[in-house]
Amino acid sequence: MNEGNFIVLEGVDGAGTTTHTRLLAERLRGRGLPVCTTREPTDGPIGTMIRQMLSGRIVVPGMRGPRPPSWGTMALLFAADRLDHIEAEIAPNLQDGVIVLSDRYRHSSVAYQTLSAGGGDDILAWVRTINAHALRPDLTIVLDVPADVTRSRRRARAGQDALYEEDALQAQLVDFYLTIERYFPDEQIVHVDANRDQEAVAADIYAQVQKLRGE
Ligand code: TYD
Repeated sequence: MNEGNFIVLEGVDGAGTTTHTRLLAERLRGRGLPVCTTREPTDGPIGTMIRQMLSGRIVVPGMRGPRPPSWGTMALLFAADRLDHIEAEIAPNLQDGVIVLSDRYRHSSVAYQTLSAGGGDDILAWVRTINAHALRPDLTIVLDVPADVTRSRRRARAGQDALYEEDALQAQLVDFYLTIERYFPDEQIVHVDANRDQEAVAADIYAQVQKLRGE
């Protein structure tokens, strides 16, 4: 059996990674190809706990009242969730020749945990270090959307803002993602302009995957 392809979709909240992971999977499955879609935070034990932290259902008690876990704790949890993800799902599927599509991966950690901690070089280096042994994707597709567009997409969703969803941080994230390949020099990373109609974006994403597969 040939080894599968490990493909990641990345971008800020509201960029459309979840929708486009699904659309890409449908297109590949429509050709009869074996595809596994997955996401981070995962649906495993650590990922489930992280999601409850993001929504504020799990908090850290403290003298000055409950608070979200610190950025360092979050960085370690995301990295631990990722190692479980690779071992339980990504690597076995790749070995079986399956195309693995992940909605977010370690690029999210480098972007979100670094910027939510204030963005210092030492922080960036540490977040990269704790993710250094994560399996390298064959292709990462970054969906670029301007901050004002993602802001209105987030507003259109029901519910309260989760951790990391405040506008100022999201605007910094938009800029950070534009040049994120700087921090992953040995990776294949491409950008797709996702501020267009869904079909056009999906077609560009699919074209990148075809290129990767030599089709
Ligand atoms: P997201 O993937 O957008 O899920 P949902 O669509 O269910 O809201 O939310 C996950 C959040 O976690 C998002 O704000 C990005 C953040 N995140 C990190 O901060 N670091 C990481 O390593 C990952 C994978 C996600």
